[in-house]
Amino acid sequence: MPVCFDAASGVLSLHTDHTTYQLAIRHRGLLLHTWYGPRVTDDMSYAIPYADRGFSGNPADAEDDRTVSCDTLPQEYPCEGSGDFRATAFGLRDQGGVSGCDLRYVGHRVLPGKYTLPRLPAVFAEEGEAETVEITLQDLRLPVQVRLLYGVLPGMDCITRSAVITNRGDAPVTLENAASLCLDFLHGEFDRIAFWGKHSLERQAERRPVGHGEEVFGSRRGASSHHMNPFLVLCDRDATEDSGLALGCALMWSGSFSARVGLDAFGQTRLTMGIQNERFNYLLQPGESFTAPEAVMVLSEQGLGEMSRRFHRLILGHVLRFPRPDMPRPVLINNWEATYMDFTGDKIVEIARQAAGLGVDMMVLDDGWFGRRSSDHDGLGDWWVNEEKLGCSLPRLAERIRRLGMKFGLWIEPEMVNRPSDLAREHPDWIFTIPGKPPVTSRDQLVLDFSRPDVVDAILERLDRIITEARVDYIKMDMNRSLNDVYTQADFQSQGKVLYRYTLGVYRFLQALRDRHPDLLIEGCSGGGGRFDLGMLYFTPQIWCSDDTDPIERLKIQYGTSFCYPPCVMGAHVSVSPSEQTGRVTPLSVRGAVAMAGTFGYELDPARLSPEEKEEVRQQIRTFRRYQPLMLQGDYYRLTDNMADREKAAWMFVSPDKSEALVTWVTRDAHDNPAAQFVTCRGLDPEALYRDEATGEARTGAALMRMGLLIPRSKGEYTARQIHLLRV
Ligand code: DGJ
Repeated sequence: MPVCFDAASGVLSLHTDHTTYQLAIRHRGLLLHTWYGPRVTDDMSYAIPYADRGFSGNPADAEDDRTVSCDTLPQEYPCEGSGDFRATAFGLRDQGGVSGCDLRYVGHRVLPGKYTLPRLPAVFAEEGEAETVEITLQDLRLPVQVRLLYGVLPGMDCITRSAVITNRGDAPVTLENAASLCLDFLHGEFDRIAFWGKHSLERQAERRPVGHGEEVFGSRRGASSHHMNPFLVLCDRDATEDSGLALGCALMWSGSFSARVGLDAFGQTRLTMGIQNERFNYLLQPGESFTAPEAVMVLSEQGLGEMSRRFHRLILGHVLRFPRPDMPRPVLINNWEATYMDFTGDKIVEIARQAAGLGVDMMVLDDGWFGRRSSDHDGLGDWWVNEEKLGCSLPRLAERIRRLGMKFGLWIEPEMVNRPSDLAREHPDWIFTIPGKPPVTSRDQLVLDFSRPDVVDAILERLDRIITEARVDYIKMDMNRSLNDVYTQADFQSQGKVLYRYTLGVYRFLQALRDRHPDLLIEGCSGGGGRFDLGMLYFTPQIWCSDDTDPIERLKIQYGTSFCYPPCVMGAHVSVSPSEQTGRVTPLSVRGAVAMAGTFGYELDPARLSPEEKEEVRQQIRTFRRYQPLMLQGDYYRLTDNMADREKAAWMFVSPDKSEALVTWVTRDAHDNPAAQFVTCRGLDPEALYRDEATGEARTGAALMRMGLLIPRSKGEYTARQIHLLRV
């Protein structure tokens, strides 16, 4: 039974195959958190240290018991005003501006299957794969109810959380905070791994011990952002890829978010995660509900590697909806780095013609095909095809590409507008601007008010017509600035809701596109990987990982991304050398090997390749097609710490039955008279014998996982090898 409730002790346990999440109802409805960790059958509330601690107050109904304090006991959904002075999950203000609440347990129920969230993405599961727990809490003062939702997916070792807050009174109240999760641990020996970044260098893994105080991670940018990914790991101080406890928390949300982690004065750890509560005050009218985005938790006792693989399986089977997780994705060529906005229709067809000859499946036409868009200063928002520039209509261009045997993809950026555009002139009220304040521009763009369904629908209609007429197979949906001057002209009363509703507007747009074009492959993008999160993955089964396509920079970017997200969702392309971004010179083989740990494609002008390079590209595509099933269905193992190892980077895919593996390594430095270098494999069957397909050498899994593969000495700064191992 995944969910067990012991009425006598008030203990509610949520079990997955290898983990347990436990709560206890105590002291007149205080909801305590007693355990999240490896599977246990005990009542873990025995470990809660009750103590009378100075300056930690007691709820009125604790009477004389000074050991009951929300400030020190592990809380499930701590609220501001309850006497808990740590980071809380929930805050409420009444019409008079008085805040302070105290949520108490009223009841709970267990439902078959996994709950869904209205208008929000959520992990999905068949009825037999999941159970839902719904716990109702009631504030002691205001007629506000909180329903805590838990999804239990035993086979995935995953617990999801959300909260629905309803105003059941007849006066409005203002929500000031509504986190998706709070996790309290009675001890404090954790490291945290956060994934910071910037444009062109996303998801840099940074590991540090959790210390006293509060560390705050998050985004205030209206998008999940390049700067901090909505994914955080807590792990044992000595956790490695293969051992130790590792807990990952991902927020299924593409807007601003916040996560806090810290140790309290008694060595207890608290983690909260949810929407950003700065620039958020949500006026809840009588009868209205607010739904917090889903937080997804996966825990493993076998280290960071297994935590990641559990996330990957969860995402492939329970987050991605298109097409089938194991269905091959097209190898595409995108003209952005080849031409930027300086192209004609003939040039695009010529790129496609050359690429078709190399074995590429799809031509993607990037930014610059619409309106008067010749640079990033103008034309954005004018969704009419610039036939003068293309020399023909878009359906005609698409047809010319299809005649080459290729699919056709198109770039769009629906949320944005340049001031010099017909759209900005015709609909100034559709643009976020605060009356009386000149708006901040970024890349010369302003942001459309996607909190308004009418604006979303109007943009959708324009783009849908183009997509339908040209029979577009793939969309790259971009978003190239952070949100500022967030102010809706539609509803003055709702300014505190706008950022939340904006993200719902983005989801509305994507869902409508999916409904109208069920076979359309959508790739998410935000100036590279600035909106790389579970929320987007629910709608866009792949996301452009970074605008930096230098393969050596990508080693760190894709490494950090892999902690939560599977390689097959990471948009990765081979581009030119020297790199357009860094100027670094790398061999084509290295660029190919690194892009193959992603969706794989090209971002260059094939006409500029030498005959030898063209042959190498043909071979790369054949190699990718051969290994794609293994990379889609196999387990992914990180073999090096790409943040720390300056010498090499390595990773491998192992088939589910361990009969086949693909090891890839890249050397990052060159030395004369070097020490021998090995790559130790992971995930193989130690008893089995594996033959290196290229050399015929056979070694046991045990030898490959202990001694490893010897990296041959090679000259030149960067080299790459892919080694295909087959069980004998
Ligand atoms: C940012 C994207 O990440 C690039 O790949 C490209 O599509 C440009 N935008 C186009 O403006």
